Amino acid sequence: MWSSRWLFILAAAGSAVGLGNIWKFPYVVGESGGGAFVVVYLFCIALVGIPIMMAEVLIGRQGRQSPINTMRALVKEVDGSSGWTLIGWAGVFAGFLILSYYAVIAGWSMYYIVLMAQGLFDGSSPALARSVFSEFQQSPWLMLGWHTAFMVITVAIVARGVTGGIEKAVRWFMPFLVVLLIVLVIHGFISPGFDEAVAFLFAFDFQKITVETLLTALGLSFFTLSLGMGAIMAYGAYVPGSASITSMVVTIAALDTIVAIAAGLAIFPVVFAYGTELTVEAGPSLMFETVPLVFGNIPFGSIFGTLFFVLVSFAAITSAISLTEPGLAFLVEEYNAKRSRVAISLGVFCWVLGIGTVLSFNVWSDIHLVGNLNFFAFLDYVTQNIMLPLGGLFIALFAGFVLPKTIVGSQLGLDEGYKSVLWMILIKFCAPVGVSIVFFVTIFNSIS
Ligand code: TRP
Repeated sequence: MWSSRWLFILAAAGSAVGLGNIWKFPYVVGESGGGAFVVVYLFCIALVGIPIMMAEVLIGRQGRQSPINTMRALVKEVDGSSGWTLIGWAGVFAGFLILSYYAVIAGWSMYYIVLMAQGLFDGSSPALARSVFSEFQQSPWLMLGWHTAFMVITVAIVARGVTGGIEKAVRWFMPFLVVLLIVLVIHGFISPGFDEAVAFLFAFDFQKITVETLLTALGLSFFTLSLGMGAIMAYGAYVPGSASITSMVVTIAALDTIVAIAAGLAIFPVVFAYGTELTVEAGPSLMFETVPLVFGNIPFGSIFGTLFFVLVSFAAITSAISLTEPGLAFLVEEYNAKRSRVAISLGVFCWVLGIGTVLSFNVWSDIHLVGNLNFFAFLDYVTQNIMLPLGGLFIALFAGFVLPKTIVGSQLGLDEGYKSVLWMILIKFCAPVGVSIVFFVTIFNSIS
């Protein structure tokens, strides 16, 4: 059990806030054309993400076990089809696929701690920032080393159990991360590219919305909120019975969204200030070029910059932990296995899979598995755009149609009033219909 509702909020926010917000959100916005994407993304968070997160927490708190066993117990309780337990299994699998590449990118940010601390970027130019990064991408061994380091740290923490160290650390690190992001946003605010960045981020151009934008926005909103694979369900199992699910979930989603927008406001002004030298479509390298450039050119930048990458790495660790939790908790429950042993085996498995991602940036960069997707892009696409939305869809359907109203009502503290009607509309209609439409239209489009 979490020691209080605040610790659940912190732990869930620790899971939600990670590379998805600081690294992925800005570059995906850049590739997807800006404001139109951001607006769709915000709608996805509010109308689909929040209800599904509430569903995960309430299912977890009702079952009080790992997602797979929670689903088994609930299916028995309500006499439902055992097919619903697939939600748990698919989640465990998705968690490992995601962690395998997440650890590689987190390794990049650990490498940048060292580079910043050496003062490599002091007085740097866009050209330098870019060449440092592309040289790094061309060094599979170096990248593998940092990938390994991140994996080892994650396994070491997970093996010891999450509550002791992580809860305490999250309390300090998360506020610090927010402060440093504010420094970056202020820097963005006074830089000449700020107006252009705001226009880029928030100008809503309806014409620019394509089917692909919708799916990407939906997938990213699941990814940044850690939804669709049981991570929040696993955390929900330890939530005290009296805490209000709605207010906690809204707080978590708000924190997560604020961090993502702040990262955009920190990074895009720099891109626009340097005009032709940096591009909005830089892809995965975006953060690793703009952020060092900023810190290389402000007073005490190498100190701030070092701290920034320490915090990003830390945010990644608190997310990585939640990716392992559903699988780990299940294996420990089921086989009465030692937590540390399970953690190490899973870690090795993920590490091996991660080698594919390491090579995707160099040796294998031109090997395309499907369409123009290389190994990393393929894993990223399948997990974010297919597995997480589908997982979320079934979680919504389960909470909306299978779980009896009495259970849901007492978990959410709903009586028969308008709140209950609103909840029903969101979970039975908005979330499932939204996910299905976006999903099937995309599949249809890519076939025809
Ligand atoms: N939400 C995290 C981020 O934004 C990543 C993450 C952690 C995640 N747990 C998850 C993504 C579960 C999907 C599912 O970086």
